Amino acid sequence: MDWLIRLLLLLSIAGLHTVYCDTNGQDAGALLSLMNEWQNTPPSWGKSNDPCDTWEGVRCSNSRVTSLKLSTMGLKGTLNGDIGQLTALQSLDLSYNPNITGPLTPTIGNLKQLTILILMGCSFSGNIPKELGNIPKLYYIALNSNKFTGSIPASLGSLSQLYWLDLADNQLSGTLPVSTGSSPGLDMLINTKHFHFNKNQLSGSIPEQLFNSSMTLIHVLFDNNRFTGNIPESLGSVQTLEVLRLDKNVLTGSVPSLKNLTSVNELNLANNQLSGPLPDLSGMSALNYVDLSNNIFAPSLVPKWMSQLQTLTVLAIEAGGIEGQLPTQLFSFPQLQQVLLKDNNLSGSLNLGNNISPPLQLIDLQNNNITGVSLGSAYLNTLILVGNPACSSRIVNDNYCRLQQQPTKAYSTSLASCGSRSCPTDQSLSPQCNCAYPYQGQLVFRAPFFRDLTNSTTFQSLETKLWQKLSIAPGTVSLQSPYFDNDNYLEVQLQLFPTSGQYFNRSEIQRIGFDLSNQTFNPPHIFGPYFFIASPYPFPGVGIYAFQQKKRAERAMELSKPFASWAPSGNDTDGAPQLKGARWFSYDDLKKSTNNFSNYNEIGSGGYGKVYRGILPTGQIVAIKRAQQGSMQGGREFKTEIELLSRVHHKNLVGLVGFCFEQGEQMLVYEFVPNGTLRDSLKGKFCVEESAADRPTMSELVKEIETILQNDGINTNTTSASSSATDFGITKGAPRHPYNDPLPKKDISSNAFEYSGGISFSAKVEPK
Ligand SMILES: *[C@@H]1O[C@H](CO)[C@@H](O)[C@H](O)[C@H]1NC(C)=O
Ligand SMILES: *[C@@H]1O[C@H](CO)[C@@H](O)[C@H](O)[C@H]1NC(C)=O
Ligand SMILES: *[C@@H]1O[C@H](CO)[C@@H](O)[C@H](O)[C@H]1NC(C)=O
Ligand SMILES: *[C@@H]1O[C@H](CO)[C@@H](O)[C@H](O)[C@H]1NC(C)=O
Ligand SMILES: *[C@@H]1O[C@H](CO)[C@@H](O)[C@H](O)[C@H]1NC(C)=O
Ligand SMILES: *[C@@H]1O[C@H](CO)[C@@H](O)[C@H](O)[C@H]1NC(C)=O
Ligand SMILES: *[C@@H]1O[C@H](CO)[C@@H](O)[C@H](O)[C@H]1NC(C)=O
Ligand SMILES: *[C@@H]1O[C@H](CO)[C@@H](O)[C@H](O)[C@H]1NC(C)=O
Ligand SMILES: *[C@@H]1O[C@H](CO)[C@@H](O)[C@H](O)[C@H]1NC(C)=O
Ligand SMILES: *[C@@H]1O[C@H](CO)[C@@H](O)[C@H](O)[C@H]1NC(C)=O
Ligand SMILES: *[C@@H]1O[C@H](CO)[C@@H](O)[C@H](O)[C@H]1NC(C)=O
Ligand SMILES: *[C@@H]1O[C@H](CO)[C@@H](O)[C@H](O)[C@H]1NC(C)=O
Repeated sequence: MDWLIRLLLLLSIAGLHTVYCDTNGQDAGALLSLMNEWQNTPPSWGKSNDPCDTWEGVRCSNSRVTSLKLSTMGLKGTLNGDIGQLTALQSLDLSYNPNITGPLTPTIGNLKQLTILILMGCSFSGNIPKELGNIPKLYYIALNSNKFTGSIPASLGSLSQLYWLDLADNQLSGTLPVSTGSSPGLDMLINTKHFHFNKNQLSGSIPEQLFNSSMTLIHVLFDNNRFTGNIPESLGSVQTLEVLRLDKNVLTGSVPSLKNLTSVNELNLANNQLSGPLPDLSGMSALNYVDLSNNIFAPSLVPKWMSQLQTLTVLAIEAGGIEGQLPTQLFSFPQLQQVLLKDNNLSGSLNLGNNISPPLQLIDLQNNNITGVSLGSAYLNTLILVGNPACSSRIVNDNYCRLQQQPTKAYSTSLASCGSRSCPTDQSLSPQCNCAYPYQGQLVFRAPFFRDLTNSTTFQSLETKLWQKLSIAPGTVSLQSPYFDNDNYLEVQLQLFPTSGQYFNRSEIQRIGFDLSNQTFNPPHIFGPYFFIASPYPFPGVGIYAFQQKKRAERAMELSKPFASWAPSGNDTDGAPQLKGARWFSYDDLKKSTNNFSNYNEIGSGGYGKVYRGILPTGQIVAIKRAQQGSMQGGREFKTEIELLSRVHHKNLVGLVGFCFEQGEQMLVYEFVPNGTLRDSLKGKFCVEESAADRPTMSELVKEIETILQNDGINTNTTSASSSATDFGITKGAPRHPYNDPLPKKDISSNAFEYSGGISFSAKVEPK
């Protein structure tokens, strides 16, 4: 059997891999590792060895995993460093998995092809890794609604392709980084359209350097932070701006000129400590929604623009120090919905005129100095004059002198046609009157250009766009109970119903979740920027499912985390007996033994990486084969290789001393064999029978090997074994020195498997 053992070793050295027919082994290994890490992966995961082929949410191109879409899967666990092995990944969506916790691994920076990174609505914590700045193609970053802390890494400024940067609703602190000398900063992001930094604890002043006229920002959302200092003048030069929210900060000083911002629809500077004169908004001819409330502006007369900005829908300047008489023209602006001017010093008599805008619903002028009122007969909506001389100087019974309830008939999708039909408590009634499990969650509009919640035309336009863009059937969208929250965001409960049956399947949830998290769906323009946070989806069969999950998790543990039981601290001896002395080395051990992997110690190289000479602390000289990035195998193949090599001990063969599988490294540690010894000894024995007729045929060899392995309790897969035999021919010439000769290039292993080569019989390694 000597020849067989040698064959095994040579096979392994030749690097024959056919374990995953359609999936690159490094990628398959990384996915197995993620699967092992997470609970609730889709049931299709782990059912086949071919993630590219059948695993839901996984998309591949040329055997490499290019997209992972796992929105709303109920995943639980952490995102481990092995994600960094998916080096062909272009799109990663883990949105709406609130039970994904822990930090975002810095190995994310290895994903050089990544364009889309969506982690919104999870529970990531810790710092945003600076390595994100190493991903040159990154186009879309949504890290919002997590628990990230620390400051915004300046390295993000290197992302010259970046279009969308959403860091909102975290616990980020520190100042906004701008470039200095050679180090990058956010001011370099001239292709970015979206700065969504709202709802954090960011502080310091907003740097003057952050903005200039080269920028193409349309949404600047800095509200709900702790910014201090002045609003930078440079902001006024970003002419592409449509939404500017700086409200709920501690900004001071006077407002710089914003006159050039002629595309701004929403301007919200409320709840700061801005002083100086009330800003002059004339010329901002696209303004819909203006809120300057609760600052400390100097007293001023009613500004001219209040009678000029015909596009206004909402005018809110509470406690703005405004004096004088309100212009009658204001009330005729055709889209005007709300005028909120309480706690000012408006005086004279209020005249609404005869041309009152039909959408006007609320005029709140509490606590002013208004002495009288002439109501046009057309105005039947709410007017509040409590706290004005017009109400206090005499006894008045008019409605406007009482605090009135606002109309509360906010829009909701009608279910009237369903009569009294009701559903089991865990289901909901669709607008088509079916009971089903909707995909639902909170749709949040961060700066809608309107404030009227009763207009069904507005909300029905949203419903239509939802079913159209999300490719679901008409009448399967329900919007319920819209309201403005304390931060002035419009929240709407969204329900999407399956076209048929009671459930969406996983593929549909992954798709719809992505369309919402990637903003592939865009709402009608007047809704402004939005985000969606999905509720967990109750996929069917959860009881059985949980059981299967456990089984699969156990299998995955065996398959993808083989090293847990081998680690030096582990007391579990399950995996150990097969090792026959091959030991575990830490990365640091091997780094030390090779002098930091210095060139000086390099004794060979090949497609798989490099081989180094090392000296262990015991004085033993070893050869360390180190896989380079892109040449890694899946953890399972690596384990199999180690197991096989560790069994092959023969006086004339290179023995395996140990291995390292840590910090993203895969290394094999061999005995050091002086140049020539192995080759000579193998030649002597013979990958004698040099004449072809005397050699066993390939299929005989394979059969023999299978027999041996099966006797050892390893279930082999003939299909893959024989396909590796096809490759064997290439290596049947002179035996190769395991760590000096370049390895043969083979089509089948062009995908990163050149390194040393896990034995390919391992397609179905089952635990004993
Ligand atoms: C998942 O997260 C949600 C929300 O954070 C929490 O209420 C729930 O208990 C978690 N579920 C599990 C199984 O941990
Ligand atoms: C704006 O700032 C960026 C980065 O600092 C710079 O490259 C660009 O030249 C500036 N543009 C103008 C018009 O100053
Ligand atoms: C507004 O634009 C004009 C013309 O482009 C320019 O001269 C002026 O400096 C700009 N004002 C501000 C405040 O950016
Ligand atoms: C209101 O304005 C009048 C002048 O119109 C001024 O005398 C008065 O002090 C102001 N009151 C407040 C509270 O600002
Ligand atoms: C409702 O909104 C639409 C646009 O969304 C507008 O055209 C219409 O005038 C509004 N209706 C009322 C009564 O405000
Ligand atoms: C109200 O306005 C009158 C002048 O119209 C002014 O004399 C008075 O001080 C104002 N009252 C307050 C409280 O500002
Ligand atoms: C999921 O549902 C969609 C739409 O009903 C269907 O086209 C698709 O084949 C289903 N996918 C699976 C894996 O069942
Ligand atoms: C993601 O959304 C953007 C628009 O925001 C769209 O251009 C892009 O095609 C979408 N990506 C994918 C993979 O659908
Ligand atoms: C392993 O066993 C030793 C002694 O039985 C014990 O002290 C140690 O804590 C164990 N280590 C682990 C990781 O369980
Ligand atoms: C190895 O590199 C580290 C830094 O990466 C350095 O601190 C150390 O001194 C180096 N050791 C040797 C032996 O060169
Ligand atoms: C090892 O052998 C190869 C070819 O057999 C030869 O080129 C090389 O110089 C040898 N190296 C040493 C260190 O003897
Ligand atoms: C062997 O692997 C092939 C390809 O992956 C698969 O189709 C076949 O069912 C497997 N056979 C066994 C016995 O597992």
